[in-house]
Amino acid sequence: MGEAISVKDVSMTYHSGSETTKALDSVSISVKEGEIFGLLGPNGAGKTTLISILSGILSPDHGEAKVFGMDCSRETKKVQRRINVVSGFTGVVRSLSCREALTYYGLLYNVRNIPQKVDEVLKMTGLEKSRNAEADDLSSGMKQRFLIAKGLLNDPDLLIMDEPTVGLDVESAISIRKMVKNLRSEGRTILLTTHNMFEAEELCDRIAFINSGRIIATGTPVELKSRIVSKRVIEIHCTREDCVVGSLSPLIGVKAVIKSPNLVHVTVDSYKKMKGVLKALSGCDSDVFSVNELEPTLEEAYLQIINNKPREGLKGGSGGRKRLQESKERASDD
Ligand SMILES: Nc1ncnc2c1ncn2[C@@H]1O[C@H](COP(=O)(O)OP(=O)(O)OP(=O)(O)O)[C@@H](O)[C@H]1O
Ligand SMILES: [Mg+2]
Repeated sequence: MGEAISVKDVSMTYHSGSETTKALDSVSISVKEGEIFGLLGPNGAGKTTLISILSGILSPDHGEAKVFGMDCSRETKKVQRRINVVSGFTGVVRSLSCREALTYYGLLYNVRNIPQKVDEVLKMTGLEKSRNAEADDLSSGMKQRFLIAKGLLNDPDLLIMDEPTVGLDVESAISIRKMVKNLRSEGRTILLTTHNMFEAEELCDRIAFINSGRIIATGTPVELKSRIVSKRVIEIHCTREDCVVGSLSPLIGVKAVIKSPNLVHVTVDSYKKMKGVLKALSGCDSDVFSVNELEPTLEEAYLQIINNKPREGLKGGSGGRKRLQESKERASDD
């Protein structure tokens, strides 16, 4: 598999009056053809700046950014033929119907057989029925579809999507995510930014965390999550939680035991300590219905890696870990 994006040691500083902002600081990433790559980071981390460099809008002060082997600053025209960017609705020709606006963009992109291509992208994005509606009158979800339709007009091999589901309701976001997956299955490469960790985990083959203009971690969602597993959390469904807490609390390696009705969460400092927990459970005077290890979430990995400090694994998570937080609160209410 070839390389779709190659960014090496890229730095970029904005100058505005007497103020300077280093938006990117020695950034390097490599995105393979056909993968969905997520760029995740807090507000102001430098994501949009990197996207602007890749699409040839900005030139880096230092380093090299290439798309399909072409330099984004020196071969911008050639790069722009193979890519497109889906970002905010600003700048879109608002007073035209969807079809007219897409025709206009088709002309800008030098698309051959524009009417056929416009119909094709309207169909791909489920906008056929809205083809005569003014782009400005569309709902937020439909506007996002319109932007994707616009982004597909030049049949890009690389589609860059800057927060494609921001502000969308649950169903619209699901349908956009489905669309993104379909684009990958057509063999396109996607570079995606999002603040939604669940979306990133669902969509991305690999992810880079960026903070203050620096890439601080890169890997698959599983690899990123595995980096933070310093402690394991076990969830026990049982009949007599007091008895379970009494048996497990004194064990060496048990860092925390939190109870709630018919539920106990035990944090151990390593996988090896689980054996002792299971052994103690078998001697405990309580029925045990299930014992599960709770998975860390990408959100926890993100927070820990971005903030560069270990978390206790109990706060701020979601899914399994969220259940844990709730039970902790309930336990402290007792
Ligand atoms: N045109 C500009 N002039 C001056 N500073 C800028 C400009 N654009 C961005 N910046 C600054 O550069 C830094 C990186 O901004 P950028 O927009 O790339 O971040 P981002 O990761 O896309 O943030 P967000 O998640 O909020 O979209 C920020 O400190 C921002 O204030
Ligand atoms: Mg941005």
